[in-house]
Amino acid sequence: MNLILLGAPGAGKGTQAEAISAKLSIPQISTGNMLREAVKNGTELGLKAKAAMDSGDLVSDEIVIGILKDRIAEDDAKNGYILDGFPRTVAQAEALDSMGVTIDHVLEIHVADERICARMSGRRVCEKCGASYHVEYKPTKVEGICDKCGGKAVQRADDAPETVLSRLEVYKEKTAPLKEYYAKTGKLLTVEGQEEVADTTKLVFEALGIQG
Ligand code: AP5
Repeated sequence: MNLILLGAPGAGKGTQAEAISAKLSIPQISTGNMLREAVKNGTELGLKAKAAMDSGDLVSDEIVIGILKDRIAEDDAKNGYILDGFPRTVAQAEALDSMGVTIDHVLEIHVADERICARMSGRRVCEKCGASYHVEYKPTKVEGICDKCGGKAVQRADDAPETVLSRLEVYKEKTAPLKEYYAKTGKLLTVEGQEEVADTTKLVFEALGIQG
């Protein structure tokens, strides 16, 4: 199954992508995680992406399309994948179409703006493997330590309140038009994000026809 997860920053795309990935044994492909890794490693790509990411803007289509194309060509993506954070613009969606990729479902997770800001302030992300937590809704077993790999769970630089507001604006302007793009294909499904992670997962699995 090839899936796209759509939704505002903090809507829970990464969290639900992890749950689907564990259930279906297909990889979660997060362009955000790949870009953060490049920034952390100080690669040429990371240096190009950093300024846009720090300000909450999008990295250029050219860069992101390039890394995505390479990633979906890898062996572990042969039986399907979950695109988390890609496409983010109509140009990226068109590029995906022109790669000949068949998408089975586009799942939008909808969460109201006022709840997004509260979620972002409590988010913690493993700096080693990228796993996502929340101090209240999805805490690590040991404070500050990733359950999966033992890495440090830290706050993301772009989760500062002013950057979150600017990311929401960018989402509305550049990414929300994708809902119409995919609605026209008949592949768009929408789920209302719930207060509890597990409740959202239940709705996501139902929408995708996955047995819980
Ligand atoms: P990216 O990493 O993709 O960030 P994003 O889309 O802004 O999404 P987030 O990761 O912030 O949120 P999420 O929806 O995954 O929510 P999460 O599950 O963590 O991108 C970062 C940057 O990279 C961009 O700003 C851009 O610069 C660049 N970039 C990336 N892709 C790009 C592209 N294609 N083109 C151009 N630029 C690109 O959940 C959030 C928090 O809420 C967590 O703490 C979680 O535990 C908690 N939570 C989740 N679900 C629930 C629930 N149901 N109840 C309570 N809490 C919940």
